[in-house]
Amino acid sequence: MKRISILLSAAIAFAVPACSNDVKPGGGDDDGSGSGTGSGSGSADQWQQILNDRKTDYNYALRIAALRLTGNLPSMTDVNTVASAAGDAQRQAYEALIHTYLDSPAFTTQALNFWRDTFKMGGSAMLDSAPAFATKLTVTNGSYTDLFTKNTGGCPTVSGTTITDVECANGGPKSGVLTNPGVQQQFFSNFAFRRVRWVQETFDCLRFPAELSTTGGTDVGGVAPYLGVWPFGSVASPTNGGGRVDFQNVSSAICANCHTTINHIAPLFAFYDGTGTYKTTVSVPTPLAGTPPPLAQLSDYLPPGEQYAWRYGKATPDIPTLGQAMAADPDVARCGMARIWNFALGYPDIVDQLTEVPTQTIQAQLTAFTQNNYRLKDAFFAAFTSEAFTKF
Ligand code: HEC
Repeated sequence: MKRISILLSAAIAFAVPACSNDVKPGGGDDDGSGSGTGSGSGSADQWQQILNDRKTDYNYALRIAALRLTGNLPSMTDVNTVASAAGDAQRQAYEALIHTYLDSPAFTTQALNFWRDTFKMGGSAMLDSAPAFATKLTVTNGSYTDLFTKNTGGCPTVSGTTITDVECANGGPKSGVLTNPGVQQQFFSNFAFRRVRWVQETFDCLRFPAELSTTGGTDVGGVAPYLGVWPFGSVASPTNGGGRVDFQNVSSAICANCHTTINHIAPLFAFYDGTGTYKTTVSVPTPLAGTPPPLAQLSDYLPPGEQYAWRYGKATPDIPTLGQAMAADPDVARCGMARIWNFALGYPDIVDQLTEVPTQTIQAQLTAFTQNNYRLKDAFFAAFTSEAFTKF
């Protein structure tokens, strides 16, 4: 039977057929039967019925798990170990093999590829250092929050399946991937906004705008209400603090919907130049006229008195405090678990493909992740042994 999409509500919300997101190893239908599971127009009860009709199949789950975790089909011995067991012994045999795969050198390669895809970077030693750092945390069952807070060994090298700790040499603070030189280099742009977008989309699984009010917005005399949670006056403009870009513009779009959040974070990343090196002065350009275009100034982002912040009410004066705020943000934990889940289930990128898994679907794994110090290898184990993964 075809695996039922666990992205039902997300898929329906975006009004696309639920099964269009149901990507499988090899890109095909699980069994090639093409037995459709509906067009996305069924009632919730019908979906629940279909979900309830799924049967556990550890033999089939083992095949997919081995492909994802080791890059190869399971050995004949492994296949037979699971096939010849029954009942709870079969579950135990399956789970023992998942542990074996997670502990194998091959998983290092798979994890590195997962993080390269997640971070959208890799290939050179510098651009691999952030994926390698995350891989090291994964294979050692480290904490997901170290991605944002760890202040040592941030730039490892990879050779085959061996990862060697190396300190980053780009100067400035040290705070996991947030201060990684490859990240700064890869996502260098005007105003450092692309670095902020990378942090937002990679770790919050959501495009900007990131902070919207639930009360319908405020009339700011524009084409639409202002929907943000920050005071409208908290972003700079030529008439508000003397910024050179009008982030309070309301004539075509309400810039502040996104740029209130963006502009309270971006100055923290603006001190890295295009090579990823931390400087003592703002080192990102602007799209303003000039040859070369002028560098950004702190007054372009925010009017005087505004503090840098991960979110409204969560001031973060530097990148290490930003990392701590992210580490404490439940949405960041949920995004991390959802990305691991999507890797297990074979779904494409959460943000690019709108394949955000409903929180209720991963609630058990998310709770365990949160209560277990966000241990990464355990999170992979939880996804690959979940009902959604082992039932078809
Ligand atoms: C829907 C959210 C959103 C809105 C609305 C928005 N921006 Fe942005 N803006 C972004 C993001 C995200 C980036 C970074 C894009 C990237 O580099 O990948 C960005 C980048 C920029 C940049 C740098 C562009 C460059 O040359 O690299 C400027 C300048 C800017 N925005 C100004 C504005 C102004 C002015 C408005 C209102 C007219 C506005 N933005 C509206 C999200 C938004």
